Amino acid sequence: MPDVSPDIVFVRSRLLAWYDAHARSLPWRATAGAARTEPYRVWLSEVMLQQTTVPHATPYFHAFTTRWPRVEDLAAAEDAEVMAAWAGLGYYARARNLLACARAVAGRHGGVFPDTEAGLLALPGVGAYTAAAVAAIAFDRAANVVDGNVERVMARLFAVDAPVPAARPELRRLAGLFVTDERPGDWAQALMDLGATVCRPKSPDCAICPVSDQCRGLATGEPTRFPVKAKKADRPRRRGLAYVLFDRDGRVAVQTRPGKGLLGGMLGLPTSDWTAEEPSGQPPVPADWRTAGAVEHVFTHFSLTLTVLVAQVQSADDAWRWMAPEAARAALPTVFAKALDRALS
Ligand code: ADE
Repeated sequence: MPDVSPDIVFVRSRLLAWYDAHARSLPWRATAGAARTEPYRVWLSEVMLQQTTVPHATPYFHAFTTRWPRVEDLAAAEDAEVMAAWAGLGYYARARNLLACARAVAGRHGGVFPDTEAGLLALPGVGAYTAAAVAAIAFDRAANVVDGNVERVMARLFAVDAPVPAARPELRRLAGLFVTDERPGDWAQALMDLGATVCRPKSPDCAICPVSDQCRGLATGEPTRFPVKAKKADRPRRRGLAYVLFDRDGRVAVQTRPGKGLLGGMLGLPTSDWTAEEPSGQPPVPADWRTAGAVEHVFTHFSLTLTVLVAQVQSADDAWRWMAPEAARAALPTVFAKALDRALS
C-alpha cells in the first residue's frame, strides 16, 4: 500500500482531464464550450437524481422541462399535475418540496435562483446536497458536493476503514480537500461520473481509472471493501390490504391521499392500515371482494406486503375518482401501480 496519501493536486488535474475527454453527455449538462446550463435545469435534475439513476431520471427530466420549461411554469402548475408527473420517481415528499421551492423562486426571487450556496440553502425544500450541487454546477461556486458516488470514491482513494454512516463526516472532509475555485462545477461532475461509470459500487473498472495509481483502496487489493458498511438491521415488514374497485365500465376507484405522511398528496388506491400484524379492516364498500394475490414493495424504512382484493360495483360512487386503468397506472406511485397490475392480471 502506498504509505502516502493521494496527491490532491495531481488527482484533481488527472480527473479533470479525464472529464474533459469522457464526460457523459446528459440532457441537463451544457455541451463543451457552451454557456453553463440554466439553474432551473440543474436544480431540477439534481432533485430528481438524488435517489435514482441517470437512466431512470432522464425521461422524467425531459417530460418536466417540456411541460414546464421555466421555473415560473412549474410554480404555476397544479399540485396534482406535478404529483402525477412525479409518479414513479419515488420519494414523493421531494415533489412537494420541488413545488414549494419553485414557488419561492418565482414568487420571492422574481424567477431567478439565488447564486450562492447559502442563498440556495435558504430556499424551502433545498438541502445541503442540492444547494452545493446547484451552486457548483450552475454558478461555479467552490462548494463541496457530496453524494453517494463521491463518498465511495473518497472511501476508496483514502482506504477509509471506519464504517459508514459514522464515517460520513470524515468522507465529507476528505472530499473538501479537493474543492477549489478552479472549475468547481466540472470537478463535482467529474467525481460523480467517475463514481457512476468507473468507480462503480460492485465492479470498479480500476484498469481504466485515471487515478488508480493514487488509490490506497486499490493498493490494499480489495477496493470494493470500501466504503466499509456498518451491519444494517433488516427492514421491518408491514402488511396491508389494497382494494381495487372497478365500475361496470372497467374504470378503477382512486383517491388523493392526505397531504401529510407517506405518499402524501399522491393518488392512491384505498387500503387498510399498514401494520406489523396480519392485515384486517373493513373494505371501503360492501362488494364481492376476491383476492388477487399479493405484491411486495420496499420503502426506505420498511418493506410492505399488500394483499390485493378486487371487486366490481354496479354504480360508480362519487366518493371516488374513477379512472381508466392506463391513466391510473401512469399517475399512481409504484406500489399502487403494482397492486393495480396484479388486479388486472
Ligand atoms: N448524479 C447527480 N447529479 C449528477 C450530475 N450532475 N451528473 C452526473 N451524475 C449525477
